[in-house]
Amino acid sequence: MGELSYADVQAAVARIAGRVREVGVVRADDIAADGGCAELFFALEFLQHTGTFKARGAQNFLLAHREAGTLPEVGVTIASGGNAGLACAWAAKEQGVPATVFLPANAPQVKVRRLRGYGADVRLVGTEYAEALAACSEFAAATGALTSHAYDHPHIAAGAGTLMIELHARIPDLDTVVVAVGGGGLFAGVAAAARQVGVRTVAVEPENCRALNAALAAGRPVDVPLDSVAADSLGARRVSEMALAAAQHHQASSVLVSDAAIVRARQLLWDDYRLAVEHAAGTALAGVLGPTGYRPRDGEKICVVLCGANTNPADLAG
Ligand SMILES: Cc1ncc(COP(=O)(O)O)c(C=O)c1O
Repeated sequence: MGELSYADVQAAVARIAGRVREVGVVRADDIAADGGCAELFFALEFLQHTGTFKARGAQNFLLAHREAGTLPEVGVTIASGGNAGLACAWAAKEQGVPATVFLPANAPQVKVRRLRGYGADVRLVGTEYAEALAACSEFAAATGALTSHAYDHPHIAAGAGTLMIELHARIPDLDTVVVAVGGGGLFAGVAAAARQVGVRTVAVEPENCRALNAALAAGRPVDVPLDSVAADSLGARRVSEMALAAAQHHQASSVLVSDAAIVRARQLLWDDYRLAVEHAAGTALAGVLGPTGYRPRDGEKICVVLCGANTNPADLAG
């Protein structure tokens, strides 16, 4: 798959209409910009079903397969204990098909419980993600279950991109949208829609989880080491081709932020707004606050996507 198109995202909008929550948008405090200040908005996507935008892609993926007559009765399978797994289990329940989710046996009990809460058949295999992934592939081959992916599929990325179409309707003169990047599904979808309506997309990654930034430097997706406070959701070893293609457009920027800046931004969201969000959401905000981030110009209208709620808020209080 080369590039995701605006038409792919529009098709996803039509498919998932009424099946996901529309994103809420609020005006936040202005931030420093070259020569003055920029208007900051938050997209409250952590209020989405299952706590993240992943619900959009998961719905789009299953609905597209149902439309095409390729959604088997045995259902869908994925290897993910994270937000993609949750979204897949939720969407399968909504569609009335089984979800079989593979996780390493040492996955936290809380994740297993939540997945089972959405009705998933959770299979615990091995001690590493790679073993769970191999078991997932074997299961799909043996049963004919549909294999889903956390980010590297056009239906998953296009589903995520529907967020941008809603944002544009809410803020028609938006200049810039800011997203955190793991494997790049969210970024690829949002950037495809943003380009079409003249909005710049800023891709923010932790400096030690820089799959997109490294792919841009190398001119192709490459494996990167993963070591960040946000690695639980942004820890993809390799970015998708779709994300790299989107990042190569001049309307996109890639920036890196430190773990300290991510922690500060997440804490600021709690201290100033009483929002408890994931480090991934802190990463996106750090991308416009930190010294290494994107530098807006005076009067620029910027929307930061607060992408995830699945966090333990214990370290925020105080
Ligand atoms: C809360 C949150 N934000 C951002 C991302 C990154 O998304 P992508 O892998 O599509 O880049 C993820 C991925 O799991 C996530 O869970």
